[in-house]
Amino acid sequence: MADIDGTKQEKKDKEYFTHVPQEAPGFFLKGSHQYDWGMKNRLSKVFNPKNGRTIMLAFDHGYFQGPTTGLERVDQTILPLEPYCDCLMLTRGIQRSVIPASTQKAIALRASGGTSMVSPMEEWEGEVGEGESKRAFKLQRPGFEPLSNESLACSIEEAIRLNASVLAVQVFIGSAYERQSLKNLTDLVDHANRYGIAVMGVVAVGRAMARNAQYFRLATRIMAELGAHIVKCYHTDEDFETITSCCPVPIVIAGGKKRPELDALKMAYDACEQGASGVDMGRNIFQSDAPVAMMKAVRGVVHEGLKPGEAFQLYQDLKAGAAS
Ligand code: R5P
Repeated sequence: MADIDGTKQEKKDKEYFTHVPQEAPGFFLKGSHQYDWGMKNRLSKVFNPKNGRTIMLAFDHGYFQGPTTGLERVDQTILPLEPYCDCLMLTRGIQRSVIPASTQKAIALRASGGTSMVSPMEEWEGEVGEGESKRAFKLQRPGFEPLSNESLACSIEEAIRLNASVLAVQVFIGSAYERQSLKNLTDLVDHANRYGIAVMGVVAVGRAMARNAQYFRLATRIMAELGAHIVKCYHTDEDFETITSCCPVPIVIAGGKKRPELDALKMAYDACEQGASGVDMGRNIFQSDAPVAMMKAVRGVVHEGLKPGEAFQLYQDLKAGAAS
């Protein structure tokens, strides 16, 4: 029987070789050295060949959230950030309506969807017991996440028309729609491989799922095994290097909810030091008090060798300069 990661016995026996980089002979990017020319060229637009890292600017949130704070007017808030990232992660609607076709940035196109933050929960209501002990109950199916009921939401022809380098698909390991989201991933990989376009599997964390290294090791590895060329997950306070080490393709981290700027810069720094190939960050940049300053500070950490404290100082200086 297959082992289950994280049981006491198994944890003792596992060896992640976190200090031994995985080789990629002849190419700069982990796990990508045996792809065809077109795929490698697209990945080289997303990841900087000098250091193998990327700053993806994520602003696809509207695909299920509508006008997220900071994204009410993408033309006003995101276009000023565009010069400082490597890749724009977005929906086709925003790409066509707002992003100049003259952009030189790589495109990571949201390719799954079909649900919203107000999708109905599946619930059962009833009563148990008799007489005075009679009680009403309301239950939600464990692991059920209405948001996880996604489909593929973009054809491969559309992705080619939009010159996508990467297609992003949400994967909900442990949810009621796990199988369906994994099928979305494998179908997309089949389509995208025909044309040398990369697929990024995005680990979605539902309420029923713990945001810990054990869960992310499981989810990222499953996606890589099923063909994802890039995997996106959250950073963890503990054992993040075990997640990057046992995932054979590049991992980029999502920023998650807005946190203080210094904390976000530390997270980006730690993630890269622990084997991430960069960030796919949204709210911690575009919801900052000074988004351009924060974007440049993130760039300092990911690409320019700044320590978190130095990058935070840069953020403060730029913010003060912009205000004066
Ligand atoms: C989430 O589903 C979206 O796809 C975002 O791209 C992702 O969460 C990254 O954005 P943030 O840094 O705001 O978490």
